[in-house]
Amino acid sequence: MEVKIYKDYNELSAAAAAMIIDCIKSKPEALLCFATGDTPRLAYQKAAESAIGDKIDTSGCFFIGLDEWMGIPPTNTGSCHWFLHEYLFKPMDIDPTQIHLFDALAANGEEECRKMNKLIAVNGIDLMVVGVGMNGHIGFNEPGTNINSLAHVAALDEITRTVGRKYFEDEVTIGKGITVGLKQVMETGKLLMMANGKKKAPVIKKTLEQAIGPDFPATFIRQHKNGFLLIDEEAASELKTA
Ligand code: GLP
Repeated sequence: MEVKIYKDYNELSAAAAAMIIDCIKSKPEALLCFATGDTPRLAYQKAAESAIGDKIDTSGCFFIGLDEWMGIPPTNTGSCHWFLHEYLFKPMDIDPTQIHLFDALAANGEEECRKMNKLIAVNGIDLMVVGVGMNGHIGFNEPGTNINSLAHVAALDEITRTVGRKYFEDEVTIGKGITVGLKQVMETGKLLMMANGKKKAPVIKKTLEQAIGPDFPATFIRQHKNGFLLIDEEAASELKTA
């Protein structure tokens, strides 16, 4: 794993966008997996601008969503589904046949996981972009998740449920999430983990300085052969070596 520190959110986002575009250029049939959240929003906007502006051919790529809030409809502006369409797929002009997202309204969550597991097993994820939760989660791989986990429905912990309210305009009940598993995160061709801002500084300190293990899933990135932790100076501000 490599740690890259950028001056601010704008430079961090530009770097992540460039890595997304490089992946698509070097492998036009790439499978890309994207997180949602405040962190990657600008990177996605920049990647979409670049793809359209530079006429990058994205027609052979396939896109999957990292996670979703169970029970939240795709029309809800707090859903991962809505986010990815709004900031990435629509601006990048991606055809719906090139996208697979978890169905948060599915009666059978296990079946949703099986579909995602199959897709990943057949193609292999070339590039994954993730954020990191205040409790160290990756996607909805909450603290305590087994490193060998595949896609699963997860009971969300207190921190995730509390922090998660920021995405929703109205009061919603968020109890469970559905997510690509840690094993699949670790097997990606390239893993980009992004974090910015002062509030992520303690999270990044733990990610890099705490013992690697399920108590803080983000620590596993240190074992990824092609992992990149992209952070801004504020997020790096509590590191011993920063
Ligand atoms: C959310 C999402 C994650 C995201 C993380 C960080 O709960 N499920 O996929 O990466 O938490 O979010 P943010 O970027 O808003 O800090």
